[in-house]
Amino acid sequence: MAAPPARARADYDYLIKLLLIGDSGVGKSCLLLRFSDGSFTTSFITTIGIDFKIRTIELDGKRIKLQIWDTAGQERFRTITTDIRNWIRNIEQHASDNVNKILVGNKADMDESKRAVPTSKGQALADEYGIKFFETSAKTNLNVEEVFFSIARDIKQRLADTDSKAEPSTIKINQDQSGGAGQAAQKSACCG
Ligand code: GTP
Repeated sequence: MAAPPARARADYDYLIKLLLIGDSGVGKSCLLLRFSDGSFTTSFITTIGIDFKIRTIELDGKRIKLQIWDTAGQERFRTITTDIRNWIRNIEQHASDNVNKILVGNKADMDESKRAVPTSKGQALADEYGIKFFETSAKTNLNVEEVFFSIARDIKQRLADTDSKAEPSTIKINQDQSGGAGQAAQKSACCG
């Protein structure tokens, strides 16, 4: 009888969980779909509850598995109100102090006259919070790769820095950048 197969090696070096938060209709689902599937749709199907997608990228020879959670922006599916300051306050209340944040202004392909937020205002707000700012378009694929790679790179760097300060005898095989939702949710959710 054949021996049972050896336990499969993890298919990543780092598991990073990202959460997309923001008002309804700004394009969170579209950004995620563009990044994970390379596609875009003009139809607006509002997210109900929460969903996630996975994409594994490579950075400096390390495989980074990005588990990206897409949340519902609509008020009726959550208990908090709108605008970036509230979203940031929400992160401060519910996430750990060292969580990485990035501000994204989507729909940059749209006409200047139809803009909800001018570049200078978005940049000023990001500067105020000391975080990076990107203008993206899920439609034209402007800066979509850049935004996810940028935050992944910053988190990987933070984890590597934390590692180098750890006990020399400690060997970590996989680092888990834990967010709020746990592994149980990962098993039951779709779209993996
Ligand atoms: P909730 O699920 O309600 O929180 O909304 P959401 O932020 O996930 O918005 P969604 O991704 O569903 O996009 C809303 C609408 O904006 C859709 O009609 C998209 O086609 C459109 N849209 C999304 N991204 C872009 C973009 O980069 N450019 C343009 N022109 N339209 C976009």
